[in-house]
Amino acid sequence: MHPWIAERTASFDSSGIRRVFDLAAKLKDPINLSIGQPDFDVPDEIKDATIEAIRSGRNAYSPTQGIAPLRDAVLAEVNEKYPGQDRDVFISSGTSGGLVLSMLSMVNPGDEVIFLDPYFVMYPALVRLCGGVPVMVDSYPDFRLDPEKIEAAITPKTKMVLVNSPANPTGVTATEADLKAVAAIAAKHNVALLSDEIYSRFFYDGDFYSPASDNPDAIVIDGFSKSHAMTGWRVGYVHGPREVIATMLKIQQYSFVCSPQPAQWGALRAMEVSMKANVDEYRKKRDYLVEQLSPHYELTSPGGAFYLFPKAPGNEGGAAFVERAISQGLLIIPGNIFSQKDSHFRISFAASDETLRRGAELLIKLAKA
Ligand SMILES: Cc1ncc(COP(=O)(O)O)c(C=O)c1O
Repeated sequence: MHPWIAERTASFDSSGIRRVFDLAAKLKDPINLSIGQPDFDVPDEIKDATIEAIRSGRNAYSPTQGIAPLRDAVLAEVNEKYPGQDRDVFISSGTSGGLVLSMLSMVNPGDEVIFLDPYFVMYPALVRLCGGVPVMVDSYPDFRLDPEKIEAAITPKTKMVLVNSPANPTGVTATEADLKAVAAIAAKHNVALLSDEIYSRFFYDGDFYSPASDNPDAIVIDGFSKSHAMTGWRVGYVHGPREVIATMLKIQQYSFVCSPQPAQWGALRAMEVSMKANVDEYRKKRDYLVEQLSPHYELTSPGGAFYLFPKAPGNEGGAAFVERAISQGLLIIPGNIFSQKDSHFRISFAASDETLRRGAELLIKLAKA
């Protein structure tokens, strides 16, 4: 390691995902089912509001906590959803910004943070960056958020339980009963409950439910990246107890400074733009892919997000299967990037119907080969 590099950076690596991108770069016209963002574009009204903000000179730093109209609008929505709770809100630099600040403001060296395996790639990396210890709760084969398993993982060193429903990479949604139980467990053991709700609008069966409804101290991170296809704009938000939010803002002031101001004006407009038609489309894509692949792969039908996490055929393993798929021109992600296990792979159905059709056809062929 170069003598200038800090030790904390050696606690995690990103070679797995780089390997997939290296393999992908060699492909000419891949069937790409690897993308973690919507395949639709940002709605025009949102683009127009942002361009108008830029043209009218709203290009400076915003207040650390975000522009007042956006913060007020998010706070009004939060107050309506969680009546009687005293939540504070700020605008973060994407949901990732909220995640980074959550970890930095709550995780001490040696603190344990519990989350499900499979997990979103940033979770173990950020916990380790803060000197914390990721405690991964095996959720195979159905990827259920099992409150009993969560409680069994709690020790005197537990600082936080991190939940993500709908989940990346499985698309699985936790039930209201399980979320209520986890909210109660966090309260009983006096540990922080962090809820990553970035996929809350991509919810296909029933209504989204947040554990913050039952735990007024839960910290929620969310944002506009996925809901309005604004991944490059970097606008998210965090709500939770006042003192925790104030601490995150203290760090935001000395790090991200603010979410980009023009993008925040776009996000304000986004709050009035319904994405229901897009979500309905994604439900159909989910139904199509599940119907096509279920006879050939072991998989749990996802209730949300835009991912499917099937088991690789036989005992081939996720990484070997993905190499085989990539050699045939199909780009998918091996499960071991999101897990301690190498048995599954992630498909994103945020793609055109034609791409999905070609992908399904090839996947069916690969299952038989
Ligand atoms: C579970 C989860 N949380 C957070 C993020 C980060 O989203 P953002 O673009 O808002 O930083 C992602 C992005 O893929 C995600 O999948």
